[in-house]
Amino acid sequence: MISSLLLRVSVTLLLIGMVFGIVMGIRQDFSLAPAHAHLNLVGFVVMFAAGLYYRIIPEAAESLLAKTQAALHIVGSVVFPIGIAVTLIKGPGHEAGAIIGSLIVLAATVLFAIVVFRTTALARAPMPLPRRA
Ligand code: HEM
Repeated sequence: MISSLLLRVSVTLLLIGMVFGIVMGIRQDFSLAPAHAHLNLVGFVVMFAAGLYYRIIPEAAESLLAKTQAALHIVGSVVFPIGIAVTLIKGPGHEAGAIIGSLIVLAATVLFAIVVFRTTALARAPMPLPRRA
């Protein structure tokens, strides 16, 4: 459940991030590139990796910690890039969204680190290769 949610949300954010990049290219205005970069990296790369982790080790997804981590990561992946964009557009004094977003992402990552430390030993042995005849 958490795994599917993270994988689906992450590819959705990737599509949005790519359209964002194409629009920057069409307009030849790269001033929001840091917002695009963080949407793609935090919203796709890291979130997709977390989704894969929960897929490989389903037991890791069962705790309240993991569910909280997933919720925080999704919220932070939206708030953080928007906060960066607002800061870049409006200038000094408008950093609140970026600061709050970064702290949400940090909190999600702390929880994820705890989940990984607690559960990584549960990884299954790889599937044996089929024997040759
Ligand atoms: C259709 C796909 C994409 C397009 C059209 C696109 C377009 C762009 C453009 C126009 C820039 C600004 C370049 C400049 O400042 O000269 C940029 C920067 C960047 N993009 Fe993308 N991008 C795409 C996908 C991605 C993905 C998938 C990632 C990461 C997983 C990514 C990460 C970055 C990073 C790290 C930067 C540098 C940001 C900075 O300099 O502040 N991009 N991209």
